[in-house]
Amino acid sequence: MKFGYFDDRNKEYVITTPQTPLPWINYLGSEDFFSLVSNTAGGYSFYRDARMRRLTRYRYNNSPLDMDGHRIYIKDGDTVWNPGWQPTKTPLDSYSCRHGLGYTVVEGKKDGVTARQELFVPKGDACELDRVTVCNESAAVKELDLFSYVEFCLWDAVDDSSNFQRNYSTGEVEVEGSVIYHKTEYRERRNHYAVFWANCPVDSFDTTRDAFCGVYGGPADPQAVRAGHCSGSIAHGWAPVGALHIHLTLAPGESRSILFGLGYIENPQEEKFIAPGVINKTRAHAMMARYATDAQIDAARIALRTHWEELLSTYHLESGEEKLNRMVNIWHQYQCMVTFNMSRSASYYESGTGRGMGFRDSCQDLLGFVHIIPSRARERILDIAATQFEDGSAYHQYQPLTKKGNRDVGSGFNDDPLWLIAGTAAYLRETGDWSILEEQVPFDNDAAKAQPLMEHLRRSFNFTCTHLGPHGLPLIGRADWNDCLNLNCFSEHPGESFQITGPSEGPVAESVFIAGMFVKYGHEYAELCDHLNLTEEAAAARKHIDAVEQAVLTAGWDGAWFRRAYDAFGNPIGSKECAEGQIFIEPQGMCVMAGIGRETGQAAQALASVEERLDTKYGVVLLQPAYTGYQLNLGEISSYPPGYKENAGIFCHNNPWISCAEATLGHGDRAFAVYRKTCPAYIEDISEIHRTEPYVYSQMVAGKDAPTFGEAKNSWLTGTAAWTFFNISQYILGIQPTLDGLKVDPCIPHTLSGFTVTRRFRGAVYHITVDNAAGVQHGVKAVTVDGKAICGNVLPLAAAGTEVTVQVTMG
Ligand code: BGC
Repeated sequence: MKFGYFDDRNKEYVITTPQTPLPWINYLGSEDFFSLVSNTAGGYSFYRDARMRRLTRYRYNNSPLDMDGHRIYIKDGDTVWNPGWQPTKTPLDSYSCRHGLGYTVVEGKKDGVTARQELFVPKGDACELDRVTVCNESAAVKELDLFSYVEFCLWDAVDDSSNFQRNYSTGEVEVEGSVIYHKTEYRERRNHYAVFWANCPVDSFDTTRDAFCGVYGGPADPQAVRAGHCSGSIAHGWAPVGALHIHLTLAPGESRSILFGLGYIENPQEEKFIAPGVINKTRAHAMMARYATDAQIDAARIALRTHWEELLSTYHLESGEEKLNRMVNIWHQYQCMVTFNMSRSASYYESGTGRGMGFRDSCQDLLGFVHIIPSRARERILDIAATQFEDGSAYHQYQPLTKKGNRDVGSGFNDDPLWLIAGTAAYLRETGDWSILEEQVPFDNDAAKAQPLMEHLRRSFNFTCTHLGPHGLPLIGRADWNDCLNLNCFSEHPGESFQITGPSEGPVAESVFIAGMFVKYGHEYAELCDHLNLTEEAAAARKHIDAVEQAVLTAGWDGAWFRRAYDAFGNPIGSKECAEGQIFIEPQGMCVMAGIGRETGQAAQALASVEERLDTKYGVVLLQPAYTGYQLNLGEISSYPPGYKENAGIFCHNNPWISCAEATLGHGDRAFAVYRKTCPAYIEDISEIHRTEPYVYSQMVAGKDAPTFGEAKNSWLTGTAAWTFFNISQYILGIQPTLDGLKVDPCIPHTLSGFTVTRRFRGAVYHITVDNAAGVQHGVKAVTVDGKAICGNVLPLAAAGTEVTVQVTMG
């Protein structure tokens, strides 16, 4: 069943009922100011850091769901309704929600009145704009009361939801005409306030929640809305809110647009006040003046659209497959951008208060994002590298506001260092900007310990070399990619973190997955050495890589697939010798991508085992058989009921690894079949089973052992975004940036007769047409560039500013 449809021309998903199986959300903003907005206009806003600079409150585990948001109420006689249905849930005569690129439009109609709420964050400004257009489509004059409402968060979202003895006394506001300034803690150490305004005179306002909602009213039935006016309340402690009310008299056919804005303002310390206790509003006035008229707001909308069109034009596909075009040209890249911005911090499943930016997550996000805005990728690489320790290990997470490593979680995740090589090498392949390797980057955020970025990569590589276990495989530490395989944890007490309980360095637990990574990204490191003429270093690196590869082919091989790990007692995990968890997905994908066992046939055999044992109609599950009980030596993975999360769920992130691995073996049919199974546009029809948004990936889908097989959770922020785009654009469609230029090496289903990709690369535009009249899955027979045949399939670098036409014949 569907709850909407794709509108590809406008690059939107259109939701046609507010009662989607779960709230379906969108992200506004891509620089400093961000808002999450659901299909009913629920959600919240923050400046840079969803924990430390939260502007509005959101209650995650509330019932009913999604009550807090960017709320518009309309009172028409005795009827009160919201254009997005929530929170009053008054039945609407019609409803739609259009989630587009950086904007959302929610429209409701009731008793002859249409209200359209258009939300977006303009480029270059720290505010959200909500333009509300109300139209009287009835034959009679309408007397309407329009209310806009937000509930402020007292900035630090954790403190806000826990430290009530203090924060019930700190809330402060100022009101000036149609503008409410939320200035809690501005009197002391904060230099920022929020501003909530309307671009026209208001008839009344409230700034206390008790006055607007009523102590027991809540947003579903606010007493001020019922009364038809606010009471001019001024918050002193308790819960400050912003509520603005405008009375509208609309003749038949008449409409009126009003802008409500929510902005973030920072003042220099010495300019905080203009009089004792009176905040300096100059910057707020300037911000509001930028969006005073409809023409200004329209211009900001157009600028946002142009920005997105420009970004997405870097990679554009035309193929006979409508769903594929839609995903590649719009939604894959859009999700990559959002995931790059947010890492795993703020979604409807990530509260924004826990995890900051993940080291490994952010490095992988680069793979899908780097072609979109390389300059931001560059900045991100340097930020991430600055949280590395001198021995090459790294903080597992860092806070976006301070860019400092998170000491509570610390380090010890032994895959982390290698992901820095992966992200940096991808940046170099895309841009050819070798100067990045010379940038001085601190270790442990300490400028005194700065070294060139290349030295960081060297220490990443060496970290694995110096942390090998008894089988010559890398030690796993706290965990590798799979945060839930905690072989050194041994946690027996509820409430302990599986990730940081126990020693970070067990003496023997080893990871075959990290070994696969070391072979893959170690080779990428050696190539960088080659390029820098570090010949001896490259040769030495390759010796280490060969040794680890041998260890994988022997101790890491189980007979028909790659083992997953060795536990703290030296016993294999992911082996036919185990009662449960005999085969895992991760090492099959990573080792085959690394080329391990390609010549010996082990790679093909491993993938055949995946198809036989792990594949399902909704995707490839993480392991089989699922763990049925908690096992002390395995940790969190065995804490989940069978079929959920890492315990045999379909963890979408590593499905593309299998697809990439199939492509490296030339299996185009199978690579595409794996891609399709979890791809949102291809499973839109089962939205009632899948439940999360049909336009983006979720972190996981319940596996075949789960009672809710096929149900997804944790949408939006997942490494799946980057890996899927990386897979479809580079492995399947085969347009691959390399250090030497753009390589074309498609591996497609034999039924796809061809396609065209327009790719911007290092300043030039390549129009690449691939002809597969031969009906093969892999293999390039001939390539011409501007009509001239070339040798091989790496395109000569075209000068920046030029356009070239490339014809590729498969066969
Ligand atoms: C984390 C990733 C991790 C994955 C598998 C995600 O929630 O963000 O870092 O690789 O889970 O455990």
